[in-house]
Amino acid sequence: MVYLTDVLAFISGFFIINILANSNDILFNEDYEFIDLSYPFDKNTIYSPVSQNFMFIKKIGHFDDEGSWYASNDFAAGEHGGTHIDAPYHFKVDGKYVGDIPVDKLIVPLIIVDISSKVNNDSNFVLYKHDLDYILNDNMRKPCFIVFKFGWSKFANDKSKYLGITKNNTYNFPGISGEVAEWITSSYKNVVGIGVDTASVDKGSSTDFPVHKATAKAGLFNVENVKLDQHVPEYGCTALILPMKIALGSGAPLRLVAICPKRS
Ligand SMILES: *[C@@H]1O[C@H](CO)[C@@H](O)[C@H](O)[C@H]1NC(C)=O
Ligand SMILES: *[C@@H]1O[C@H](CO)[C@@H](O)[C@H](O)[C@H]1NC(C)=O
Ligand SMILES: [Zn+2]
Repeated sequence: MVYLTDVLAFISGFFIINILANSNDILFNEDYEFIDLSYPFDKNTIYSPVSQNFMFIKKIGHFDDEGSWYASNDFAAGEHGGTHIDAPYHFKVDGKYVGDIPVDKLIVPLIIVDISSKVNNDSNFVLYKHDLDYILNDNMRKPCFIVFKFGWSKFANDKSKYLGITKNNTYNFPGISGEVAEWITSSYKNVVGIGVDTASVDKGSSTDFPVHKATAKAGLFNVENVKLDQHVPEYGCTALILPMKIALGSGAPLRLVAICPKRS
């Protein structure tokens, strides 16, 4: 069966290779914009209680006798805080480390699945397969990174609201069900990773982490704390998922950027 999108992709691929010849001509002709989907790393960055918060452990900044400036800091931080990647090794003993994830899995088409109107600010919301039936009809055969938008970035300035910290010190924020994770990893072999605009792909109150286990088992990475407080097209963007290359990392701080067609 031949899809129209395949024909168009073939034709545009032909033109890109033969006429434009170079990616700079495509990316810098005013048709694309670069959208930063990362939170800054500073004293407010969200980490789990068992992780080292982002901290400058040494800060140098001074003018020398000749009046020229010199600054250089040292920092310490957990792997899993702020906008970050989870490598498969996070939940699978022989899974890939951050430093081993090949770059062709880190620069891929981005699909945003906006379920924020279903979530409706409910910190107990869990995403099940029946919420997503419409995705089944979409063509997702190219490699891709799927980000689920729960509408949670708007709470990022209020840590206890964002994490849903309760009196008994448990977390409550929405998440993906194990069912959806199993479905993606078994039915959509082109998906290389999944992301969320919350602190974890599993719901905040999870204690058995079925989503982390399913993605790690299938060799997918997760991205957590995606900054989605701005409009990002659901289709048509390319994700640059470029973590710090910690060779033996179970995770790493990440600069996540989307390259998107400009809206006319
Ligand atoms: C969700 O929360 C935001 C921020 O507190 C608020 O502006 C919005 O009205 C809420 N939406 C619903 C459906 O309650
Ligand atoms: C903690 O509080 C939340 C919400 O108030 C509740 O759902 C949860 O069951 C409580 N957990 C424990 C261990 O008591
Ligand atoms: Zn993580």
